[in-house]
Amino acid sequence: MTFKSVALKALLGFTIFTSSFAASSATLRIGTEPTFAPFEFMNNASGTYEGFDMDMIREAVKRMGHTPELHQMGFDSLVPSLRTNSIDIIAAAMTITPKRQRAVAFTQPYYDAGQGIMVLEANRDRYVDLKTLEGARIAVQIGTTGAEMAVKIPGAKVYKYNTTNEAILELRNRGVDAVLLDKPVLGYFTVVNPRAAKGMVVQPGVFGAESFGFAVNKQNTQLLKGLNEALDAMRKDGTYDRIYAKWFGTTERR
Ligand code: ARG
Repeated sequence: MTFKSVALKALLGFTIFTSSFAASSATLRIGTEPTFAPFEFMNNASGTYEGFDMDMIREAVKRMGHTPELHQMGFDSLVPSLRTNSIDIIAAAMTITPKRQRAVAFTQPYYDAGQGIMVLEANRDRYVDLKTLEGARIAVQIGTTGAEMAVKIPGAKVYKYNTTNEAILELRNRGVDAVLLDKPVLGYFTVVNPRAAKGMVVQPGVFGAESFGFAVNKQNTQLLKGLNEALDAMRKDGTYDRIYAKWFGTTERR
C-alpha cells in the first residue's frame, strides 16, 4: 500500500466517522415523559420504562445498531431538549402537529389517537363533549394537544399539571369537572387501575384526529432516515403487529 492510499483511507475513514452518524454504533438518548401508560410508564417492580413507545423505539434503535438510553423529563421540556441536543429522540406519544413540525422533524406516524374526556360518574350525563365542557374546570397535562384543545373551549378554566397522574387525581378530589387527555391513556387507566378509577368514567366520544410520531433534531437527517427505515421493516416483518397486540390486545384500528 502506498503512502498515498493509506493517507486517503485514513482521510476517508475519518470523514465517514464524523459525517455519517449511523455508520458507527452509538448510544442514543431517548427523551420521554413516563406518566402515559400504555405508551410509556415506569414499571416500579422492575425499575424499567415500559410501554408501546418504549418497545417500538428500543427495537428501531437496536436495528440501527445503536444502544437506547432513556431520559425522563417534563413533557414540555422534550422539544427544547431535542433542539439543544440534550437528547437525540423523543418517544412520548407526541402528536405530529404543524407547530411542532416547525421546531423538530417527525418520523412516519406510528399510532392514531384522539382526545377523550374523563368525568365523575355523577356527571356522566352533564359533560359529554367539548360543547358541554363550556365554562367547566378542566385538568390537562402541560404542553399537550389536550391542553391546547381545552384553552379553546369558551369559558373553560384550564388547570395544567406536570403529570397525567396529578390531573386524574384532581378529578378524583373534585377539584375539576373533567380531564382532557389522549383517549387510549384514559381508557387504559380505568382498566388497569379500577380501584383508583372508581367513581370516574371515560365518555365514549373521541375528539380530534391525531397521529403520534417519534421526533429528532431537524439537522439529524441520517437518524430520521434510519428510524423510518427501521419502522418500515418492523411493519413488514410483523414486529409492529406483535408489539401493538401486546399493548392493545388487537391489531385493529390504526
Ligand atoms: N399526544 C399528546 C400530545 O402530543 C399528549 C402526549 C403526552 N405524552 C406523554 N408522554 N406524557 O400533546
